[in-house]
Amino acid sequence: MKPLNLLEYIYAIEDYHFDLAYPREIRELSDRHWTPVEVARKAAEFLVREPGTRVLDIGCGPGKFCIVGALATEGRFTGVEQRPHLCAAARSVIDQAQIPNAAIIHGNLTAMDFSHFDAFYLFNPFQENLETNAKIDLTVKLSSELYDQYTEHVARQLALAPLRTRVATYCGACEEVPMGYECIDSSSGCDLKFWEKTKHHPVRPSAQGPTSTNRKWRFMVGAIEPAA
Ligand SMILES: C[S@@+](CC[C@H](N)C(=O)[O-])C[C@H]1O[C@@H](n2cnc3c(N)ncnc32)[C@H](O)[C@@H]1O
Repeated sequence: MKPLNLLEYIYAIEDYHFDLAYPREIRELSDRHWTPVEVARKAAEFLVREPGTRVLDIGCGPGKFCIVGALATEGRFTGVEQRPHLCAAARSVIDQAQIPNAAIIHGNLTAMDFSHFDAFYLFNPFQENLETNAKIDLTVKLSSELYDQYTEHVARQLALAPLRTRVATYCGACEEVPMGYECIDSSSGCDLKFWEKTKHHPVRPSAQGPTSTNRKWRFMVGAIEPAA
């Protein structure tokens, strides 16, 4: 059988073929940590309302969602990723395949300006801070405090976004999605959720941190009026 080349891999529908675009050690993490091709397509089609819609993948790993979304729609996809070797893997595919509407930023999501984006994608990016048996690797700091910090940061940024902002979440408790966003549809056995901001809610002016019994940023952010 003739071997597939990179372009054939990234246009493949089956995850097994798509993942051949990556080195083996990254491929092996796909089942658990990278978005399936079909889910990425559906999420991208929901998020991109018009040509040029700017989509941010919050914790993009090796860029699978950004690559699939950029090939399937006319949106502009940016991924932010804290692990440099995953950024390198993503950029290698994007550069070799010359995908003009996908880009990867190496860094922490807390340094990103969310106002530069129209729509957001999250595949449970902070879960490995809580689960001891679901870590990608040990190259970054992981802790329940970081889970709270990142989740609150995203919830606050999304709470400040304009009405009609769209978010797609895949798996997880969706604690990053604050009040004011309505889950308007779901897919892939409800694991993929489509959200749209339909109401403004006041955002508390300063972080106070969740209590150990209440991690629900979705309900905490915006639930309390700012001090006069
Ligand atoms: C479950 S993977 C999802 C990858 C990709 N979004 C996808 O759907 O295929 C979550 C990724 O988020 C990254 N991540 C977690 N916290 C981050 C942070 N604070 N800043 C940047 N990246 C982060 C992790 O390194 C990991 O690669």
